Amino acid sequence: MEYMDLVRKAAGYITSKIEKVPDTAVVLGSGLGFFTDLLQERCEIPYQEIPGFPVSTAPGHAGKLIYGKIGEKDVICMSGRFHFYEGYSMNEVSFYVRAFKVLGIKNLIITNAAGGINRCFTPGDLMIITDHIKFFDDSPLRGENISELGPRFNDMSEAYDKGLIEKAKSVAANQGTDVKEGVYAFMPGPSYETPAEIRALGILGADAVGMSSVPEVITASHSGLKVLGISCITNQAAGISKEKLTEEEVFETAEKVGEKFSALIAEVITEI
Ligand code: HPA
Repeated sequence: MEYMDLVRKAAGYITSKIEKVPDTAVVLGSGLGFFTDLLQERCEIPYQEIPGFPVSTAPGHAGKLIYGKIGEKDVICMSGRFHFYEGYSMNEVSFYVRAFKVLGIKNLIITNAAGGINRCFTPGDLMIITDHIKFFDDSPLRGENISELGPRFNDMSEAYDKGLIEKAKSVAANQGTDVKEGVYAFMPGPSYETPAEIRALGILGADAVGMSSVPEVITASHSGLKVLGISCITNQAAGISKEKLTEEEVFETAEKVGEKFSALIAEVITEI
């Protein structure tokens, strides 16, 4: 089957299961599933049912699409995402973004857990992503361009929408939630980075590091979706603190800030 036929099939399947196509989709990072508790009139679609969707194998990622309402606004939510380190190509990792584009989604709110490189950050901080760094091989756009979605060489100078960044900052200020801003560096994982890699990334201008989101942001940018990216700083990156990095620390911190993180996202959704 042609790739775009599969994308359309996925979008068609999702449409058949939901009441109304929302303007906004949310992608929940590791341990950030709390947000879905805020959704009213929920309907869940397991990824296995959706044509073309891979199955998420990462711990802390539920593997279902959840549709529901926040106040008057409809929203669709990826509870569990796909990662490059799971063995998927970047194209497979971001298949859902194209399905969302065909579905009619306009805004993509991408969240993740990330290690803090900026020494002013402490675990539990939220960081609005202003830009990213990705130096690794593979791109979700590698291969034949899908010109009905976007151009061969797409501009990435405003991959993270300035209007959405301002909106998130003003919502956070109204809620009394402190938010940082910064550059997210993509690393392929699944090992956490070495202290030398983190020092190098810091010199290159990164404030935080993680193993997700960037393939999807590239795909979203290509097809003209507006992106808001927010990282939960779950730990200090390797070598910044003396502690060793553990998955448990990442989940524990993400869970601790789940409530304020979710409140921020929920309010942004109602205001866009
Ligand atoms: N490095 C990479 N990915 C991560 C980290 C980290 O320190 N913390 C959470 N996700």
